[in-house]
Amino acid sequence: MSTEKLPKKLGKNEIVLREHEFDGIQEFDQKLPNWWLFSFYGAIVFYIGYWFIYYSTDLLPTEVESINARMTVIETAKKKELEAMMDKLDDSVLLTWSQEDSITKEGEDVYKQFCIACHGATLEGGIGRSLVDAEWAHGSQPMDILNIVLDGTPADSQGYNGQKMTPWKDALGPEKCAKVTAYLISQNPHIEK
Ligand code: HEC
Repeated sequence: MSTEKLPKKLGKNEIVLREHEFDGIQEFDQKLPNWWLFSFYGAIVFYIGYWFIYYSTDLLPTEVESINARMTVIETAKKKELEAMMDKLDDSVLLTWSQEDSITKEGEDVYKQFCIACHGATLEGGIGRSLVDAEWAHGSQPMDILNIVLDGTPADSQGYNGQKMTPWKDALGPEKCAKVTAYLISQNPHIEK
């Protein structure tokens, strides 16, 4: 182990070591580079400024405000999409769609994913009502069927065996709701097409 003392300063741009040593290991004692110090002080100044602006002024939106603003944008877009779809659709469009294989195929995929659990593999019903009989609790016209898919059990309904259906328009969007409705119509033998 060397006990020889190292000079404290060796000159500019050269290594400066602290005087202590342990197991032959010594420590640097350099001045921090200016770029590092400036970023550090800059971060402190930025923090104070940002803190002040964020908490003491209304210039920056809080997280809740920016989430709410984004939700409003999404909701407006969804509403527009629904309105555009509802403008496009009527009973005869849904009947035409129910004859188009490419559309009913998409509807069938939606049905298998989201509806089959309650309405059964052959649409015979179960927890939900049968969709292949001639009985419609909430209207038998194509748009009536679409509306219950979009909005779920109407407020005045007693439900079916005490069960109600949730609305699907937010989870699926209007287009998928319309396509699954076209599929239901295509499968129901009592609806004249
Ligand atoms: C959690 C179970 C459940 C799921 C999942 C479900 N439904 Fe329903 N559905 C019901 C119930 C219960 C009713 C009866 C509601 C009522 O009469 O108030 C119903 C009613 C309906 C009706 C009206 C039937 C009639 O005779 O008037 C249609 C149409 C319908 N569902 C379509 C769908 C479609 C399409 C999907 C998939 C996107 C779906 N349902 C998913 C439970 C479900």
